[in-house]
Amino acid sequence: MAQNSNKNGSKTPIVTFEDVHIKFGDKVVLAGASLDVYENETLALIGGSGAGKSVLVRSLIGLERPQKGKIFFRGTNILDLSENKIIDVRKRIAYAFQFGALFDSLSVYDNLAYPLREHTKMSEEEIRNRIMDVLHSFGLEESSRLFPSNLSGGMQKRVGVARAIILDPEIILYDEPTSGLDPFNAKNINDLIIKLQKKGRTSIVITHDMHSAFYVADRIAMLYNGKIAYSGLTEEVKASDNKVVKAFITGEPV
Ligand SMILES: Nc1ncnc2c1ncn2[C@@H]1O[C@H](COP(=O)(O)OP(=O)(O)O)[C@@H](O)[C@H]1O
Ligand SMILES: [Mg+2]
Repeated sequence: MAQNSNKNGSKTPIVTFEDVHIKFGDKVVLAGASLDVYENETLALIGGSGAGKSVLVRSLIGLERPQKGKIFFRGTNILDLSENKIIDVRKRIAYAFQFGALFDSLSVYDNLAYPLREHTKMSEEEIRNRIMDVLHSFGLEESSRLFPSNLSGGMQKRVGVARAIILDPEIILYDEPTSGLDPFNAKNINDLIIKLQKKGRTSIVITHDMHSAFYVADRIAMLYNGKIAYSGLTEEVKASDNKVVKAFITGEPV
């Protein structure tokens, strides 16, 4: 089992991965991954390319199907839920994709309006207010009429996060939110993650970028050989003697 502790001492996880096994054909990706995530924390999930980080977080919203194990969200094993109920879970757990995934043919405004029109009964005026609020807090109010192709990489990522949180989710899954960004834009995204945490959101941030992990995370968990090989408070991870963790942080071969 992963070792668990968090800053505020609260011991009720909002999410628990329990002994999750996922393979594709003969290729074993997760071989008994177990991890707790606590309310209102930011957990960084680290590990090498292809370690299974995306597969693990995608399994929380039913996009990957474990062959074995349990995945609890607020006490319910989501693997027991019907497809309809899983759609409800996806409204409460947002996934900010690795590659933005904005609709190229829609303006920023319509990209943000899409989930609200699709999943809520809000009027166009309520939708407008919600979008303007979010654009404002992301420093994007000037961009509402632009199309994704008119935006810089950093702005595209911000719009991607804005769209992910537009339905006011309880948990936000960020899949490599700063990859491909320069340090200035990476810091912008990291500050956004911190800002959303201050508003009470729980976050899982997949990242290769240890600087970002140390900056945003309360705890860090490392996926290695299909399991969570280590988890601990960010300060503990910085000082850890764990061979695998140390090697990853310093970029040495394990
Ligand atoms: N749908 C799939 N079919 C076959 N293999 C997959 C599929 N999705 C992911 N994989 C494989 O699972 C492994 C873990 O992928 P992933 O979770 O994306 O890694 P990462 O830690 O880089 O996010 C990779 O080797 C990848 O090729
Ligand atoms: Mg990935």
